Amino acid sequence: MADSNKTATLTFGDTTIDLPMMSPSVGPDVIDISKLYGKAGVFTHDPGFTSTSSCVSTITYIDGEQGELLHRGYPIDQLAEKSHYLEVCYLLLYGELPTATELEDFEYRVTRHTMVHEQMMNFFRGFRRDAHPMAVMVGVVGAMSAFYHDSTDISDPWQREVASIRLIAKMPTIAAMAYKYTIGQPFEYPRNDLDYASNFLRMCFAVPAEDYQVDPILSRAMDRIFTLHADHEQNASTSTVRLASSSGANPFASIAAGIACLWGPAHGGANQACLEMLREIGTVDRIPEFIARAKDKNDPFRLMGFGHRVYKNFDPRAKVMKKSADEVLDLLGIDNNPTLQVAKELEKQALNDPYFAEKKLFPNVDFYSGIILEAMGFPTSMFTPIFALSRTIGWVSQWKEMISDPGLKIGRPRQLYTGETRRDYVDVENR
Ligand code: ACO
Repeated sequence: MADSNKTATLTFGDTTIDLPMMSPSVGPDVIDISKLYGKAGVFTHDPGFTSTSSCVSTITYIDGEQGELLHRGYPIDQLAEKSHYLEVCYLLLYGELPTATELEDFEYRVTRHTMVHEQMMNFFRGFRRDAHPMAVMVGVVGAMSAFYHDSTDISDPWQREVASIRLIAKMPTIAAMAYKYTIGQPFEYPRNDLDYASNFLRMCFAVPAEDYQVDPILSRAMDRIFTLHADHEQNASTSTVRLASSSGANPFASIAAGIACLWGPAHGGANQACLEMLREIGTVDRIPEFIARAKDKNDPFRLMGFGHRVYKNFDPRAKVMKKSADEVLDLLGIDNNPTLQVAKELEKQALNDPYFAEKKLFPNVDFYSGIILEAMGFPTSMFTPIFALSRTIGWVSQWKEMISDPGLKIGRPRQLYTGETRRDYVDVENR
């Protein structure tokens, strides 16, 4: 993959060195600086990794300028329209769309792993009832390594495969249990006769006292939310999973690290933060005040659900999500909901404001997903757990790709040290 025809020349002081360049199948060329310190005794400095490729990957490609997202080459809008979540899981994990038999076999394997170890119920009961479901998920997913010892040996490809299937299959069960626990309702066991999304909706909203029928439009919308969040290249939580597992940590511990990272409001927590912001704005007449705050350099307030580190054009997932939001709200007949009215007007005003246009700040996927999830009846605290369960396939696929790489190295960034230089210890009585 290193392209021998191209090199980059770096000159500083009296030193000039040639650095090899690598060409991706699509996207900008990459300067390979892995030998830079050895050859020239300097590091590069790139906080936030805005200009640094951390790995070679064949899974997902994003063109932020064009607003394009491809999984194994397939555009996300085509996958969201024509495919479904478990098929996209197969694609991300194994690299190709499955044949009908492969898909049936994959769905069978996932479906047969949806239950969690019965002893895990006790683990849930150790949490306070008012715990945030993400706090519960970080704990419970990390604890899976204590329940499934037979899939923690990462050097064994079979165990890696079993761990992958277990994570994809059990994450909806764990997220639904975290929800049921916080509202004080009994856990609902998974039902293997339902598809992945319908099963999740049922585990969240059914109660033993009455029948529960999943509406196919809501199930389709749920599946689309899962699909649109399935993977997103080397984002913060995926990089966290890669870094954590580069030490050889087991997959459950590594995915728990990814969940912890996703929780932050600049990442997966943005959908919850966005809905809370819409409620705080409250009425359409207050929108200009909040837009003014978002533009004020002296105010830390940002419009949640706007902007993206990579997309400097419309987030392609947001387009599909917006359409889905319209369908769900239409079905549920709640188009005059005040939060929704604020959302629609905020979107319009921000898109017409030169500040947002110049900085290329567009609504991201979280702006619309929160609206759909609220309409479905999920509390805001469940928004990020739903993102976590959807992204599990991305984390698992990226983890599997990394572990299978014979050139795997433990991740170890360097630093630009600006602290004290060497000095001698002073006894406490002399300070
Ligand atoms: N509202 C107002 N101004 C913003 C916003 C926003 N939402 N986002 C960025 N800006 C401004 C910044 O103030 C900055 O202005 P400056 O150049 O005058 O200093 C400029 O746009 C660039 O912002 P950065 O923070 O440098 O952009 P970065 O790419 O690092 O940040 C991020 C991306 C974190 C997503 C940011 O846009 C943000 O905080 N958005 C709100 C949170 C959010 O919606 N996150 C969801 C991300 S999508 C996901 O995780 C699925």
